Amino acid sequence: MKTHAAILEEIGTPWSVVELDLDAPGEGEVLLEFIASGLCHSDESIRKGSFGNARLPMVGGHEGSGIVRAVGKNVRGIKEGDHVVCSFRPSCGQCDYCTAGESYLCNESVNSLVGCLPGGHFRFHKDGLDLGGNCMLGTFSQYAVVSEISCLVVDKDIPLETLAVLGCAVPTGWGAAVNAAQVAPGDVVVVIGAGGVGLNACQGALHAGAAQIIVVDPVASKLDVAPVFGATAGFTSTEEARDYVKSLRQGGADHVILSAGVGGLAEAGISMLRKGGALTIAALGDPAKYRLDLAISPLVMQNISIRGSAFGTSHIRTDLYKLLDLYRAGRLKLDELVSKTYTLDEINTGFEDLLSGQNLRGVILHGKA
Ligand SMILES: NC(=O)c1ccc[n+]([C@@H]2O[C@H](COP(=O)([O-])OP(=O)(O)OC[C@H]3O[C@@H](n4cnc5c(N)ncnc54)[C@H](O)[C@@H]3O)[C@@H](O)[C@H]2O)c1
Ligand SMILES: [Zn+2]
Ligand SMILES: [Zn+2]
Repeated sequence: MKTHAAILEEIGTPWSVVELDLDAPGEGEVLLEFIASGLCHSDESIRKGSFGNARLPMVGGHEGSGIVRAVGKNVRGIKEGDHVVCSFRPSCGQCDYCTAGESYLCNESVNSLVGCLPGGHFRFHKDGLDLGGNCMLGTFSQYAVVSEISCLVVDKDIPLETLAVLGCAVPTGWGAAVNAAQVAPGDVVVVIGAGGVGLNACQGALHAGAAQIIVVDPVASKLDVAPVFGATAGFTSTEEARDYVKSLRQGGADHVILSAGVGGLAEAGISMLRKGGALTIAALGDPAKYRLDLAISPLVMQNISIRGSAFGTSHIRTDLYKLLDLYRAGRLKLDELVSKTYTLDEINTGFEDLLSGQNLRGVILHGKA
């Protein structure tokens, strides 16, 4: 069959919307009609070449929700007509990591930047050329064939337009606070970067019982809206935020969560911690510029922790359903997160809006559920 999709042909060029050929689903695969796809900074980083090893051309997009239109052989637990959220990290349920409850590290994610499905299959083609989908998905396509291990079936009470952001931004940010940092009641938490991931780190810190959630972002309009997601204070620079948290009883924050991939911010985050505090890093960035340069001894003597968090350290087959219940209870803000929607043809405008700070999360709407 044919599908329209936004692909990246070369590093640094805009996304181009083209027609592709799409295979039927093979064993363990499903054909999805994507309804919505979030615009995550990681796709922009691929476009800019910050994750230098992506295989191009590639169908972009790794945060999406859609409807199952066909299933291949031996697919269990997913049927035609089901609504699904796609997880940008697959969970095969069988590798050492999945069986240990660490599916955010699933071995099947090894080809995320190649984009082929398990078994090495490429299901998108253009003029005889094979194309992968970002994170084995390619949510910037109207239709895609994806592996069942990337899909989570959800009830139909919540619109698919609302659910796309659960494929990346929400679990990544929420889980950075809840699963990785393990924020505790009464904690002081600083979140650096109030984008799609950072605002969800605020929501996670709120649900975990933080007493103060201090947001840092140079875009003042993001600070204005951050209280909706739990923020209790906001600053446009790390220097101002540091002065504030250093004046607190414990002399610093219990946790700093980093969700902006800009050089110097990790060091700035560490400088805001109390003794025994922890920096949790969710952001990704250009490896040439986004690096750590620190004297180690003071970190040791102050018992400082630094950890990365992939996909919010989320065991998504459990966490997704908790997040849906929190949304149903009115405690997880998803509708407020989606600040603007776009058609597929408007994708480059969507990313310009991301970069100019106009969006909390922009979402492409492929069609109506
Ligand atoms: N760990 C993971 O599994 C994972 C998953 C998804 C995204 N990411 C990464 O998380 C980061 C955030 O993604 P996003 O989609 O939320 O991006 P975004 O662009 O929506 O958010 C980034 C925010 O950082 C702010 N910012 C820029 N410079 C800053 C500075 N100097 N100080 C404070 N804030 C600053 C921006 O204004 C923006 O609000 C990206 O690096 C992305 O690649 C990681
Ligand atoms: Zn993402
Ligand atoms: Zn696995």
